[in-house]
Amino acid sequence: MSADSTVKEPWPPVPRGYFAIGAERMSKALNLGNLMRSAHGFGASFTFTVGATYQALEARADTSKGQVHLPHYNWANLDEMKLPAGCKLVGIELIDEAIDLPSFRHPLRAAYVLGPEAGSLSPTLLARCDYTVKIPTRFCVNVAMAGAIVMYDRVKSLSRFADRPVRAGGPTEPVSMHVHGRRPVPPSE
Ligand SMILES: C[S@@+](CC[C@H](N)C(=O)[O-])C[C@H]1O[C@@H](n2cnc3c(N)ncnc32)[C@H](O)[C@@H]1O
Repeated sequence: MSADSTVKEPWPPVPRGYFAIGAERMSKALNLGNLMRSAHGFGASFTFTVGATYQALEARADTSKGQVHLPHYNWANLDEMKLPAGCKLVGIELIDEAIDLPSFRHPLRAAYVLGPEAGSLSPTLLARCDYTVKIPTRFCVNVAMAGAIVMYDRVKSLSRFADRPVRAGGPTEPVSMHVHGRRPVPPSE
């Protein structure tokens, strides 16, 4: 069966797998709302908090109404945290032993967890993480911003976009069509 050239690729491209994002001990509603808005925009399947303060949960500033479209789990503590089977927990923290985000292969099924505004991921949560990644910045950036950077990196690396050209500017080649069961062969091969 030949590929139908009239079929339009969805925008933004739909990446494989699924992901969730959340934070531990979040205390500011503005940050939670901001994170939920980005999560909604980048195509998260759900958001979550572990031990968030009442204030953070009450007055979220998500103008995209992410909480209407995305489930949000509010776990009181780590014992309550339940992730789907096969879902890898990825900590996001600026610590020496973390993997550099640009060198990280994202798991197809992942839940990303950020630390609180005035602290870091707890040792207990870090011990539960399958991986921990760090964003290459000289100091900590805003927590919701850190979440958005990691989600962007995931979408960029797991979705199909046209390759960047060698020279400055937009792509010169269209996105290659996906062929089930085998790797697409570039014209040069
Ligand atoms: C604003 S930071 C916490 C403040 C920071 N521990 C301090 O007191 O300097 C909040 C959270 O954002 C995330 N974060 C911020 N910058 C990061 C980076 N460069 N790499 C990884 N995570 C980062 C981490 O999850 C961190 O716990």
